[in-house]
Amino acid sequence: MRQQIAAANWKMNLTYQQGEQLLDVLLKEAIALKDHQRAVFAVPFPYLIMATQKLDGKKGYAVSAQNCSDKKSGAYTGEVAAEMLKSINIPYCVLGHSERREYFGEDNLTLAQKVLLCLENNITPIFCCGEPLHIREANAQQEFVATQLKESLFGLADDAIRKIVIAYEPIWAIGTGRTASAAQAQEMHKHIREFLTAKYGASTANEIPILYGGSVKGANASELFGCSDVDGGLVGGASLNASEFASIIRALK
Ligand code: 13P
Repeated sequence: MRQQIAAANWKMNLTYQQGEQLLDVLLKEAIALKDHQRAVFAVPFPYLIMATQKLDGKKGYAVSAQNCSDKKSGAYTGEVAAEMLKSINIPYCVLGHSERREYFGEDNLTLAQKVLLCLENNITPIFCCGEPLHIREANAQQEFVATQLKESLFGLADDAIRKIVIAYEPIWAIGTGRTASAAQAQEMHKHIREFLTAKYGASTANEIPILYGGSVKGANASELFGCSDVDGGLVGGASLNASEFASIIRALK
């Protein structure tokens, strides 16, 4: 079965101590993950080692960065390179979150560089795509997301694209409480998989997890994750509450 992933995106929230406590409380729930299931925690940079130590030896649990530089190394004050993440054994990195695109000017071509650097360092990109409200209202979301994928990912060879996790996050559903309906999520995920199939073939496309993000909570996770092309979620607000995120992990197929 395709990997199913519940990914927490803490964004710029929680102090170090609050982060430690959240992980402690969550791990007390002792949710046993099946071989194809993952619980991933995208925490702020200064917490990566702490989170790695807490999750050490817990099957299926892993840490993610929330971003990395599009440069390999050098005089780029304030940036964090993929190679640095590799040197502390970070297995995942969120790339191209809509907040990075909107507030930090990241475009599809910059993201293509970041994807390459992560893969070179054996880090799985959790590549975010998704349309703003005016694009959805114009019913142009499929073309919009297709362009994001094409410009950032479709330069990859077959064996490289298989290492990617995609997160579809419609911007109008992020932090708004306005979740895409299960039907809207499934329709877009199916389209993304068809788009991957057209470029890479069905067997590759069927291996790539596609997560849904945007106001996922314990109460709607099962319905969303129940859709055949929805392979879990990338969760903001609800991941800041241990019991809420625990119920999201439990909703994985
Ligand atoms: P919310 O779950 O708070 O809507 O955020 C979604 C998100 O941006 C995850 O990356």
